[in-house]
Amino acid sequence: MEKKFARTLVTTALPYANGPVHIGHLAGVYVPADIYVRYLRLKGEEVLHVGGSDEHGVPVTIRAKKEGCTPQDVVDRYHSIIKQAFADFGISFDIYSRTTSETHHKHASDFFRKLYEDGKFVEMESEQYYDEEAKQFLSDRNIVGECPRCHADGAYGDQCEKCGSTLSPDELINPKNALTGNPLVKRNTSHWYLPLNDYQGWLEKWILEDHKEWRSNVYGQCKSWLDAGLRPRAVTRDLEWGIPVPVEGAEGKVLYVWFDAPIGYISNTKELLPNDWEKWWKDESTRLIHFIGKDNIVFHCIVFPTMLKAEGSYILPDNVPSNEFLNLEGDKISTSRNWAVWLHEYLVDFPGKQDVLRYVLTANAPETKDNDFTWKDFQARNNSELVAIYGNFVNRALQLTKKYFNGIVPEAGELTDYDRETLKEFSGVKEEVEKLLNNFKFRDAQKEAMNLARIGNKYLADTEPWKLAKTDMPRVQTILNFALQLVANLAIAFEPFLPFSSKKLREMLNLESFDWANLGKIDLLPAGHTLGEPQLLFEKIEDAEIDAQTARLERIKKENEVNSFTPEPVAPVVSFDDFCKVDIRVGKVLECEKVPKADKLLKFKIDDGMGGRTIVSGIAKYYKPEDLVGKEVCFIANFEPRKLKGVESQGMILSAENADGSLVVIGPQGEVKPGCKVG
Ligand code: 2FM
Ligand code: ZN
Repeated sequence: MEKKFARTLVTTALPYANGPVHIGHLAGVYVPADIYVRYLRLKGEEVLHVGGSDEHGVPVTIRAKKEGCTPQDVVDRYHSIIKQAFADFGISFDIYSRTTSETHHKHASDFFRKLYEDGKFVEMESEQYYDEEAKQFLSDRNIVGECPRCHADGAYGDQCEKCGSTLSPDELINPKNALTGNPLVKRNTSHWYLPLNDYQGWLEKWILEDHKEWRSNVYGQCKSWLDAGLRPRAVTRDLEWGIPVPVEGAEGKVLYVWFDAPIGYISNTKELLPNDWEKWWKDESTRLIHFIGKDNIVFHCIVFPTMLKAEGSYILPDNVPSNEFLNLEGDKISTSRNWAVWLHEYLVDFPGKQDVLRYVLTANAPETKDNDFTWKDFQARNNSELVAIYGNFVNRALQLTKKYFNGIVPEAGELTDYDRETLKEFSGVKEEVEKLLNNFKFRDAQKEAMNLARIGNKYLADTEPWKLAKTDMPRVQTILNFALQLVANLAIAFEPFLPFSSKKLREMLNLESFDWANLGKIDLLPAGHTLGEPQLLFEKIEDAEIDAQTARLERIKKENEVNSFTPEPVAPVVSFDDFCKVDIRVGKVLECEKVPKADKLLKFKIDDGMGGRTIVSGIAKYYKPEDLVGKEVCFIANFEPRKLKGVESQGMILSAENADGSLVVIGPQGEVKPGCKVG
C-alpha cells in the first residue's frame, strides 16, 4: 500500500562552487526539482526545497592555486554567481546556503563526532603519495603521471583525460605533484572509514526489495554496486581545505567532501528553521526526495543513507530521481573546457527568456538516456511551439475579446457538440499531468500541458469566431468565453513548468491567484470579468541570435583544439650526412596566383638567385596570393620535380602545421639574399 506522507522535503544536489552552473546542471537537477516543488505548492501541500553550494573538496583548492587566491575567495565568487543566477532563473529554493557556513561546519562536525563516539567508523592505515618538499599528502587530482593505458603524459591520479580511463594514483607511471612537478614518495597515513560492507544486507533489502519503483537507471546502478560487494569508504582526507576532523590527533585532516556535502542538506534546513528542522528530517511522515545527476547516485543511494542509518535518528530518502547527462551540440559538457551554456550568461544574452530555456530543457530532459542540446532545436521549439502554439492561442483569444467585447469576458450560451468534444479532450489533462508528475516524468507532463494549448489553438482555428462576428454574435460570445477558460487552464497547467509566462498570463487575465484544483474547469473566469491588457507571451527568436551562440561555441572548439595540442612524437634520428642531402634555400616570392580548378594550390614564381623557378604549394586555404608577393620563404631546392594539376613544381615551400591544422609559411627572420643555404 502506498504510504501517506504529511509533507515533502526536496533537496537538490549542491553544485560545486568552483565554477558557475550550466544547462547540464539545470536539465539534470534544478529544473525538474523546481517543477516538482512548484507543483506541490500549487496543490497546497507542505513542501520545502533545500539547496546550497558545495564549497569544499580538492577542485576548489586547485582553482585557487591556479588563480593565486585563497579557496575562500574562489567559493565566495562562485557561490554568489550561482545563487544569483538560480534566483534570476526562478529556481524556487526555500533556502540556498553554503557548506562554509558556520551552521554547517558545526552540524557536520557533530554528525561525525556522534558516529565516531558510537564506534561506527573503522580506523585504518594505508600508503598514500606524499610530497616531501611540500610536506603534504596529495589527493588523486593533485597527482599526474604517464597514463598506463594510452601513455599520454599528464594523466590525473583519478582519470586520464586523454583516453578517459578511470585510474588510481598507484597505476600512474612516474607520478609527480601536479602543481610543482615534485617527485612523490609513499607514506603511511591513517583515516576513518565507513564500513559500507556492514550495511550490505540492510541496503539490499531497503533498495532492491523496498524501492523497486525507483527509476531503472538509479535502481540498476545501485544493484551493480551491491552485486560487486561494498567495501569500507574513507570519510576523511589529508587536506587543509575542509571541515577539520573533530577528533584528537587528527590535525591536518578534514572530512571528505562527500561526507560533509550531503549533511549540508540538513544544516541548511537547520539554518532556515532553527526550531523546526527536525520535523523535516526525523519525522517518518516527511517524504524526502533527492534530485541529482547520475554521477551522484552512489553517494545518495548508498553512502548517505548508510550515514543516516548509522546515526540512527534520521529518515531515509523515499525516492532519488536522477537524470542522465545533457550534451551540448553533440559533445560532453565540460567546465574545464568551457564547453557549456552558462546560466548567468544565458540570462544576459536572452533577457526575460527564462521560460524558453526551462521549456527546452524539459522537452529534451535526459530522463532515460543522455540527450543533446542544440541551439537550432532551442530556436525551433521557441518559434514553432511556444510562439506558434501556446503564444498564438493566448494572443488570439485575448485580442478577439478585446476587439469584440472590450476586454470583458462574454456570457457563454449553449455549448455545441464540438465544444463538448473539445471539453472532453482537455478535461482529462489534470489527472494525466498529476500522474506523470507524481512519477517524476516531467518531459511527458509538459507535453500534456502543451497539448492543451494545441487543443485551444485548434478550437479557434476550427470555430473561426472572426468570421462569425458578422453574422452570429451570440456564438462568438460562447466561443470566446470557452477559449478564455482554456487560456486560464493553460496558465495553471504551465505554472510549475513556465512560471514567468504563467505570471504574465495571470496578469493579462486579471486573476489574483491560481489553484491546481481548478485545472479542467470552465468557470474560472466569470462573465463580466475585466481582463488586463493583452501582451505577447513569447517572442520569435531570430537566426542572428542563434548564430551568435553557435559562433561562440565554434570559437571555443578551436581554442580547445589548440590548448589540447600535443606535438607529434619526434621521428627517428638522422645523421648529419643524411640531413645535408636536403638542400634548403631562401627565395623571394616574385609572383603568386591560384592554380585554376584547384582549391588548395598556389603557384609561386620564386627568385632563387639562380635564374628563378616555379613552385606549387598547397596553402591556398590559408593565404591570399597577393599577401605573399615580396616575402622571403624557405624551400627545398633539390626536391624531385612533380606535376600538380598540370603545373610542374620545382621544389617545396616549407611551412609549419599549426595546432588547428592550418599552415604557416616559414621564412628567415632577417634579410637574406635569395639562393642562400639554410642549415
Ligand atoms: O557532483 C556535484 O556537483 C557535487 N557537488 C554534488 C554534491 S550533492 C550533495 F551531496 F551535496
Ligand atoms: Zn590514457
